[in-house]
Parts: sequence; C-alpha cells; structure tokens
Amino acid sequence: MRTIFITGASSGLGRACVKVFADKGWRVIATMRNPAAGEELGKLPNVHLKQLDVNNVPQLQALVKEVEDKWQVDVVLNNAGHILVGPLEGFTDEQVSLQVTTNLLGPIRVTKEFLPYFRERKSGLFLNVTSTGALLPEPFMSIYGATKAAIEAWSTSMRSELSKVGIGIKTLIPDLMQTSFVANAQLILHPAYQEWVDKMLAIFSNPDSPLVYDDPAAVATFVYNAAVDGSDQLHYLIGDNAIRTGATIEKEGVENVLNYKEKFYFSA
Ligand SMILES: NC(=O)c1ccc[n+]([C@@H]2O[C@H](COP(=O)([O-])OP(=O)(O)OC[C@H]3O[C@@H](n4cnc5c(N)ncnc54)[C@H](OP(=O)(O)O)[C@@H]3O)[C@@H](O)[C@H]2O)c1
Repeated sequence: MRTIFITGASSGLGRACVKVFADKGWRVIATMRNPAAGEELGKLPNVHLKQLDVNNVPQLQALVKEVEDKWQVDVVLNNAGHILVGPLEGFTDEQVSLQVTTNLLGPIRVTKEFLPYFRERKSGLFLNVTSTGALLPEPFMSIYGATKAAIEAWSTSMRSELSKVGIGIKTLIPDLMQTSFVANAQLILHPAYQEWVDKMLAIFSNPDSPLVYDDPAAVATFVYNAAVDGSDQLHYLIGDNAIRTGATIEKEGVENVLNYKEKFYFSA
C-alpha cells in the first residue's frame, strides 16, 4: 500500500488531500498541530492522525522515526503554512521569524528528516505547496511571498541533488482557494499604511469582488495527479485559478500584472 505523509492536514487543502489519497486506497499519515481537529478524518480507512508542529524539531524527528519504523513513506506533502499580512514596518522580528520558520524552514526540516530513509531506498517524492504569490507576490504579503518564492528556488536546486539518489521533488502552486487561509491570516497594522491596507482588505471581504477561489477538493485532485504521474516535471500550477493566473503572468509579464493589481486594489 502506498503511503503519503501530509503536514497541516487539519483543514483546507491538507484535509482535502487526506480524503483524496485515502479514497484512492493510500495509507495517509495525516499530521496536524492538534489531532482533535482531525477526528473525523481519523475514521477514514488507513488514515492515521499524528501530532506535528513543523516548528517542533524534536517532535518532527521522533515522528519521522516512528512512522518509518512502521511503514514505508512514498510521498511527503509539505503543505502546512500561514500568512502574515500588513506592511513590513508593522512586523516584529518574532512575527517575521515565525513566518520564515513555518513556511520555509518547515518544509526544509521535514524533507531533511525523511532524506536518509528515501536515499537508502533510492525512491520517494517530496511535494512542496507554494503559491502563485511566489510568481507574483501580492502587496502587503511580502514575507509570505518571499518564503514561497524561496521554496520554489530551494526545490529547483534540490531536484538536481535528489535525482542523483533516486528521489523526486516537485512544487505545487495554488492560487486563492476556499479555505480558512485568508480568514486565518495574521493581520499586522501600521498607521502610515492603513488607508491602503483597508482598501485591499475591503476587496478580500467583499463577496461581490471579482476574486475567484478554487475548491480545495478540486485542487487536491491536481495534487494526487502530480504524485502519481511518474514524470520529472518540477513545477505544477494546481487548480483552474492557478492555471489562469500562471497564463496571465506569462502572457502579460510580471510588471504589467503588478501594475494592474496596483489599480485593482488601490485606485478606488
Ligand atoms: N488558501 C489560499 O488561498 C492559498 C493560496 C496559495 C497557497 N496556499 C497554501 O496552501 C497551503 C494550505 O493552506 P490552506 O489554504 O489549506 O489554509 P488552512 O486551511 O489555513 O491550512 C493551513 C494548515 O497549516 C497548518 N499549520 C500552520 N502552521 C503550522 C505549523 N507550525 N505546524 C503544522 N501545521 C501548521 C494549519 O494548522 P492549524 O489548524 O493547527 O492552524 C492548517 O492545517 C499553505 O501552504 C498555503 O500557503 C493557500
């Protein structure tokens, strides 16, 4: 039975991926900070709930050993993430560090922990969830965009290194999805930028705005396909929204899309 290890499985895309992989007959190690949040998932066949905060290194090390002693993990899905929204001047050093630690060091640490097992077996695949914010970071999401772009760059370098020992790595690039991600955003305020942040937030909170959100269940199917397609493709736009955004950026160029976003968010 093929086995996938998923971080941040308590909600959103991670949760949807647990369901898709379990439905396809995989064993799923669904990790989350608070396993009580996944009780319903734990009732699915071959789904095992495990506690993991990706920033807790001793917990991560003990869990990877426990899991690899019991099963053979084929795919690791680095999905856990959070977002800090606001102007850089408002962020404390601790807030920036936590954003970088969770979104960048988290996937790096999880990957490093599994590597000896994967290398020994000359097999295994890492899937790293980034964001279209890595291709075109949104205003007032600078550190978030930087962490996701860094995962894109890190994964690109790692592909060459890992291919030498029979291991695969891919990045999965979603755009906006209907999850709690935006609602869970950590909003940081600073009076000098408030007018602009308010304009942007008004668009995100307006149900009639033209923003489009992908269904995480549909995006999870893209994740599944990337896991099983057997190709060495490195970057995947996952979801209709992400495919549209990727095509627009490619056609118009980053600066033109950035100028459009500037008008869209701030000209009203
Ligand atoms: N939704 C979007 O619009 C969007 C767009 C582009 C990219 N993404 C990316 O998609 C991925 C999934 O996000 P989502 O949309 O499914 O949002 P979500 O529903 O908020 O899920 C995020 C998950 O990450 C977990 N998490 C946060 N910090 C963690 C930590 N230190 N250790 C372990 N788990 C942690 C959360 O756990 P708790 O339940 O414990 O908080 C939650 O399960 C993220 O990497 C995000 O950056 C999302």
